[in-house]
Amino acid sequence: MADPPSDLKQLASAAYSELAAASDDRALEAWRVAYLGRKGRLTSLLRSVGSLSLEERREVGAAANRLKAELEAALEARRAEARQQQFAAAIETGRLDVTLPGRPKKVGRLHPVTQTLRDVLATFVSMGFSVVEGPEVELDYYNFEALRIPKDHPARDMFSTLYVDLPRNGEPDVLLRTHTSPNQARVMERTQPPIRVVVPGRCYRREATDASHEWMMMQVEVLAVDEGISMADLKGTLFEFARRIFGQERQVRFRCDYFPFVEPGAEVAIDCFLCGGEGCRTCGGEGWIEIMGAGMVHPEILANMGYDTHRYTGFAAGLGMERICMLRHGVEDIRLFYANDLRFLEQF
Ligand code: DAH
Repeated sequence: MADPPSDLKQLASAAYSELAAASDDRALEAWRVAYLGRKGRLTSLLRSVGSLSLEERREVGAAANRLKAELEAALEARRAEARQQQFAAAIETGRLDVTLPGRPKKVGRLHPVTQTLRDVLATFVSMGFSVVEGPEVELDYYNFEALRIPKDHPARDMFSTLYVDLPRNGEPDVLLRTHTSPNQARVMERTQPPIRVVVPGRCYRREATDASHEWMMMQVEVLAVDEGISMADLKGTLFEFARRIFGQERQVRFRCDYFPFVEPGAEVAIDCFLCGGEGCRTCGGEGWIEIMGAGMVHPEILANMGYDTHRYTGFAAGLGMERICMLRHGVEDIRLFYANDLRFLEQF
C-alpha cells in the first residue's frame, strides 16, 4: 500500500545515490528527467498527494516540495562538480611534461654528390674559371654533330642515347644530353676568347645500371680557349685540380685516349690514394684510378665556331661527380646515391 511519507524517503535516497553515480551531462540530464521532469517520480508523487487526508497532504506536500528544491540544488551542485572533473581530466590527458627531453629537429644536409659538385666547382673557380649552365634537353646538333660525331659515326656507340622525340625527317632531333660536352659548342658559339668556364649538369644514358653505371649522372665540363693554350696548360690545370680534391701528394697520369672532339685526347688518372699504387680493390689492382677524359679542343671545332685556329687553341675535360664522390668517400655502388635511403645519405 502506498505510504507517501516513506515513499518520499525511498525516493530521496534513490535520487541521491543515482545522482552521485551520474558523471556526465547525458547521465545528469537523464536523472533530471527521471526525478524532476513532468513525468518524473517526484512530480508523480506530488500529484498523488491529492488523495491524502488534509493533514497528511499538508505535511507530505511540504516535504515533497522541500525535497524538490533540495534535489534541484543537488543537481546544480553535481553539474558543477562534473564540469570540474571533466576539466581536470582534460588537463591531465593534455598535460605537458616539462621534464621530457626535447625531440631533436632533423637538420637537412646537402646530398653527397652536391657537396662534391660544390667542391669541384669552387676549385675551378679559384683557378679563374666561371660557372655556366646549359640545357638538359638538348639538340642532336650540340650533343653530337657540333662535336664531330655525325649520325653514322661509330663514336655514337659510346653514348646510348635517350631521345625525347623519335628522329623525324627534317626536324631537329631532341634528346637528353648524354654528356656536358655540348656546352663546349654552346659557349664558343656565343663568346669570344678568352674562355674559361666550367659547366655542371645532369646527363642521361640509356643503360642498364650496375655498381658503376647509372642512367643519370652529374658531370662537369671544363673548357679553356685562348691564345697560346697548350697541352702544358691542360696538364697543369688538371694536375692542380686533382691535388686539391684528392690530396697534395697525388701523382697524375695522362694517357692517350680517343674522343672525337679533342686532338690529342687523354684519359686522366691519379695514383691510388688507398694503396699508394700497390694495387687494391678500389683501383682494381691497377694502382691508378681514372678520373676524367680530357684533350685539346679539335681545331675543326674551333674553325666551325668561327675562331681563327692560328691564333686560338683550347683544352677541354669532362668528369663525373658520382665517381669523384665514390672515390672520396669509399662508396662502392653508384646506385646508392639516387636510392633515397636516408640511412646512406645521413652519413655525409
Ligand atoms: N664527354 C665525355 C664523356 O662523357 C668526357 C670528355 C672527354 C669530355 C674528353 C671532354 C673531353 O671535354 O675533352 O664521356
